[in-house]
Amino acid sequence: MDRVTPTAVRKAKGRGITALTAYDYPTARLLDEAGIEVLLVGDSLGMLVLGLPDTTGVVIEDILHHLRAVSRGASHALVVADMPIATYRTPVEAVTNAKRLAASGAHAVKLEGGSTCAEQIRAITDAGIPVMAHLGMLPQHIREEGKYKIKGKTETERQFLLEEASVVEGAGAFAVVLELVFPKTAGEITDAIQIPTIGIGSGSQCDGQILVVHDLVGYSPWFVPKHVHPEAEVGNIISRAAHAFIARTRRVDSPEAHPRIADSK
Ligand code: KIV
Repeated sequence: MDRVTPTAVRKAKGRGITALTAYDYPTARLLDEAGIEVLLVGDSLGMLVLGLPDTTGVVIEDILHHLRAVSRGASHALVVADMPIATYRTPVEAVTNAKRLAASGAHAVKLEGGSTCAEQIRAITDAGIPVMAHLGMLPQHIREEGKYKIKGKTETERQFLLEEASVVEGAGAFAVVLELVFPKTAGEITDAIQIPTIGIGSGSQCDGQILVVHDLVGYSPWFVPKHVHPEAEVGNIISRAAHAFIARTRRVDSPEAHPRIADSK
């Protein structure tokens, strides 16, 4: 099987492109072998892997570290790396950091925003690194926004998003993630541009779907976003395995008679 390329993704508009996040080697390998076409080393790793409250504390070294692991596990999928906050404030900074990500295995990079970073998208693309854009709810702006909310429901937001989508397409992006976009608006954007839309919490009319892998497999049971329908309960499986290990290892049956070592001094 050949490597999925940005051109192939672009040509797959309307064909149900499959994308998931991945942050480590075994997950990347399993998803790759299952046939997932795009693996995103998302800055969501801040919450899902590092235990941070949001993505704003993620730095490029975090992405580079996880990207190298994912790229070892991905033989066929297109590996896309997120550019963390404050790594693409100017076109020069954006190109420098996109090159670092490409050198560590990213076939493409993703950044958040439309007209505010059109020059960055153009500069990275001109440097030979394909760019996936990201519109709608922008998690790197969560501190200003206050909460994760649906975008594109009002006429003003709908118009704004339609314009932003055409800006990122014009700047050279090969695809655009639409996060938490009102489904009707996501459908209109999908019809209005030539590049594929990849939705997350934006309804079924996008050209593809992306999910955080932890959400798909139930590995983050503390918080399940509304748009997620988990296909597995990995959190429960791990918990059960840990209990089974405790049961077969401890030499007395009653947990009360055998407190945790740390408590027993
Ligand atoms: O970081 C991430 O996981 C993302 C997805 C939500 C698209 O950007």
